[in-house]
Amino acid sequence: GKGNYRHFMEKELHEHPAVLGDTLRQYLDPKTLEVRLPRLPFDPARIGRLTISACGSAFLAGMVGRYWIEQLARLPVDADVASEFRYRNPPLADGGAAILISQSGETADNMAALRLLREAGQRVLSVVNVPESSMARESDGALLTVAGPEIGVASTKAFTAQLAVLACLAIGFGRARRELSTLDEGRLAQTLLEVPSHAAAILEQDAQIRELAMEVAKARDVLFLGRGAMYPIALEGALKLKEISYIHAEGYAAGEMKHGPIALIDSDVPVIALCPSGPLFEKTASNLQEAAARGGRVMAFTDAEGEAALRRFAERVIVLPRIGEFATPILYAIPVQLLAYHVAVLKGTDVDQPRNLAKSVTVE
Ligand code: BG6
Repeated sequence: GKGNYRHFMEKELHEHPAVLGDTLRQYLDPKTLEVRLPRLPFDPARIGRLTISACGSAFLAGMVGRYWIEQLARLPVDADVASEFRYRNPPLADGGAAILISQSGETADNMAALRLLREAGQRVLSVVNVPESSMARESDGALLTVAGPEIGVASTKAFTAQLAVLACLAIGFGRARRELSTLDEGRLAQTLLEVPSHAAAILEQDAQIRELAMEVAKARDVLFLGRGAMYPIALEGALKLKEISYIHAEGYAAGEMKHGPIALIDSDVPVIALCPSGPLFEKTASNLQEAAARGGRVMAFTDAEGEAALRRFAERVIVLPRIGEFATPILYAIPVQLLAYHVAVLKGTDVDQPRNLAKSVTVE
């Protein structure tokens, strides 16, 4: 049941800390700070390229996975939505490897991609939440997300659990490919282990996020901006808002805004920025300043270190816990999902069963 929560989505949002803890403990030893992966269907040190494919939010987790794996393991990654992947007729070298990501493990587009990949001689690893699903069974190997059943149609805890698994995979690949030292691995593992308690702290900022939601609920269009691994989280924020509140939203790479969507900006369009401190902060902040200079209403998520710079031009700044850059996509996914939830509640939509959507889509 929903317990004391109004919706399954709200209940599932509040499960983020527990689910992240459970999933991380599955693949990370908190004592030795080592990633412990089960036997994989391919050797990450011997592949020249990796394909990632999925649908919806799971695909956005895959986009973050691409950033992480390319950065930590120096392995080229190709990421595409499953419904397009097969029609690209992608050239796949024999002995290649792929990762498919899915909550249900039943999405037809993924199953079609899975069959194509296997026919092309690829070894397929699934990241999946349902152990007895078709995808888990037909893949060469499966890593489980420990999210428990997800009832709300819009994915929440399954998404962050997917990120947790992909983060562990990226570290494991980095070590296998000798791109990461034991010291690097320990530092990254330590950062990941800080995620659950910070996630809990973010859930306690609910009232602040609800206030932001009251502004966003009045908008017709909303823009989400992020750079680097925060770009897919901007896409996730926009996707969630569309799915459950029916407000038109777009996620954009912050640096790409000036090449198009800046034309949309006026005083009616909230610009939600995902802007943690770190190497991408300055550039992102200057993109946001451009939006503000054109009358855009910048509403930024950042940490204590980024706060002062953004306050100079942003209408609202929500200060999130500070964490190592590596884990920021997991942490920042939570407030954008929570924001979409509150906007949907304010608009009175059917939060758990949005119109036209299904939890698991078994048609192509
Ligand atoms: C969509 C759901 O139809 O399927 C999304 O509405 C979900 O929330 C997507 O992300 C993919 O589903 P799955 O089960 O393959 O992760």
